[in-house]
Amino acid sequence: MSKCKILVFLVSIMISGLAFASTDDIAERIKRVGDVCVEGAECPSETVSPTVAAPMVVVADGASVESNFNKSCATCHNAGIAGAPRFADAAAWAPRVEKGMDTLYASTINGLPPAMPQKGMCFSCSDDELRALVDYMVDAAK
Ligand code: HEC
Repeated sequence: MSKCKILVFLVSIMISGLAFASTDDIAERIKRVGDVCVEGAECPSETVSPTVAAPMVVVADGASVESNFNKSCATCHNAGIAGAPRFADAAAWAPRVEKGMDTLYASTINGLPPAMPQKGMCFSCSDDELRALVDYMVDAAK
């Protein structure tokens, strides 16, 4: 046998080896997930549970107004800290509402020195979410 033939022989063994390996892999990958098991018959020990965990539903449009309020605004606005107009306190909100909603949106987004922090400390809130929070607070004070 010439060297060349030996080489061809070795290579073909390797290729057939690979082919066997991959056939096994494919069989492994396409095998059934579960087996039908009839009552009374001997069943495979490895049974697959028919209940599939439902995927968690992720709400894409951010947190609710209430949860943003409780997370960021309530700290100051529930207690009226540092002169913050209290939640649902119509008298405290009346002079604010008189300034117009656009002013209130702006003072929420930019902050109102010295005590009202920028974005009311809800840094994950978008401007739209902050406007919704102002609407929520103003509505509650009507
Ligand atoms: C660290 C305390 C604090 C937090 C947190 C806070 N506020 Fe305030 N807020 C204040 C204070 C104090 C004022 C009054 C500011 C003033 O009149 O000088 C105020 C005033 C406001 C006003 C009236 C602004 C105006 O122009 O009169 C709005 C609207 C408001 N806050 C919305 C919010 C919202 C929405 C959040 C949550 C995202 C929030 N605040 C979080 C302290 C806070």
